[in-house]
Amino acid sequence: MSDLDVVILAAGKGTRMYSDIPKVLHPLAGQPLLAHVITAARALAARRIVIVYGHGGESVRDRFQAEDIEFVRQEPQLGTGHAVQQALPLLDSSMTLVLYGDVPLIEVATLERLTATGADLALLTLELDEPHGYGRIVRNRSGKIVRIVEEKDASASEKSIREINTGLLAASTPHLKKWLTDIDNDNQQNEYYLTDITALAVRDRATLTAVAPAQYFEVLGINSKAQLARLERIFQWERAQKLMNQGVTVVDPARIDVRGTLSCGRDVTIDIGCIFEGNVVLGDRVSIGANCVVRESHVGPGSEILPFSHIDENTIGADCRIGPYARLRPGNHLGNDVRVGNFVEIKATHIANGSKANHLAYLGDSRIGSEVNIGAGTITCNYDGANKYQTIIEDDVFIGSDTQLVAPVTIGAGGTVGAGSTITKDTPPGELSVSRSKQVTVSGWQRPVKGKRK
Ligand code: UD1
Ligand code: CA
Repeated sequence: MSDLDVVILAAGKGTRMYSDIPKVLHPLAGQPLLAHVITAARALAARRIVIVYGHGGESVRDRFQAEDIEFVRQEPQLGTGHAVQQALPLLDSSMTLVLYGDVPLIEVATLERLTATGADLALLTLELDEPHGYGRIVRNRSGKIVRIVEEKDASASEKSIREINTGLLAASTPHLKKWLTDIDNDNQQNEYYLTDITALAVRDRATLTAVAPAQYFEVLGINSKAQLARLERIFQWERAQKLMNQGVTVVDPARIDVRGTLSCGRDVTIDIGCIFEGNVVLGDRVSIGANCVVRESHVGPGSEILPFSHIDENTIGADCRIGPYARLRPGNHLGNDVRVGNFVEIKATHIANGSKANHLAYLGDSRIGSEVNIGAGTITCNYDGANKYQTIIEDDVFIGSDTQLVAPVTIGAGGTVGAGSTITKDTPPGELSVSRSKQVTVSGWQRPVKGKRK
């Protein structure tokens, strides 16, 4: 545990999101913005993580209830300095790091540098070609930081300064407590500015320094849906670079979305338009076709997922071929060399090695043995309107096309079911079972003809 407390500012209204949802709860890469910031704070092994939330922010508090997180309410919102004041009674480490809940891409390595300077106040700053809107870092002739001036309070010459305040800073806690009691709201916005502690640090001859983020996007904030989308693309682009650096073939790094953790073996290929959610593991040589959604699943080595397949909470063995257009709902366990073809829906089903369901089928709550062939149009009738029942299909069975298996039912090993059957009773192993009416020919029958118009 570090001798560090983290304060995350999240009381801002987020007016420009035009949403009833608090800004920091909007998702980036499948996680609320604030979750990204909390993850970074946790990685620093902070002693306390204090979130400052505002009006309507109870849902923020409820969403992030956890042992290691504390909440303070800021009401009304009188500025960033006022926000940190609300957290002061909770702070007791020697250093405090201030983060923003709407700046989600901040890297832990940058924060480690910011908290390791040894200065009484370390500001995270950055040179921008377009500094408009940000607070500016005012330095004296010898390059020492003198104060921070907000855009709205800045003179014309101060507006030309390109070094901006990102808002993130690390301060010695005793100093911070003193400085924050000394600030006022005598400025254009009548707010208590956290940034005013900089001039107070200079007044007190405290040590002051600036640190730059490794990459500009780490300090980008989100105020609108357009900025949210922009940061999402940056995040996903960076993710794709990491995957490619590990040897994954990402066909187009601009067209992949990872909303969780994706672990890949060697020689994995991911085509365009795929979404990975939760914890996904792809074994060696796995290939994922275009436009697949894979969630909380494990795909074994050499398996191929063909385009437009949806895979949710599945375990898939080695050398399987799934899709195109397959829907694997939660709870399936597929062995090796299994084939699941187009328009096949499978749920809570185990399929052993070498079995195939290549076309148009529904298999639910089933145990399917090895080397089984499921014909096109096969349906396990697992639901009687009230309860669900199991279908057991033993090894080496052949189910003819357009068959209904009314559960609970067992198809004995090596058995064959004739096409078009409705099976309601267990079938014996090794035999042909068929249930359908006999074919008849009605001779002399004629097709109806259209009636004449009057
Ligand atoms: C602030 C900085 C500015 C910096 C900019 C970077 C001040 C006075 N100015 O400006 O120098 O360049 O960030 O984006 O600090 N918040 C609260 N309570 C409040 C006000 C804000 O919790 O009363 C939170 C917001 O939710 C947000 C963060 O503080 O997460 C920054 O607020 P914002 O209004 O965006 O700051 P700016 O005035 O733009
Ligand atoms: Ca802002």
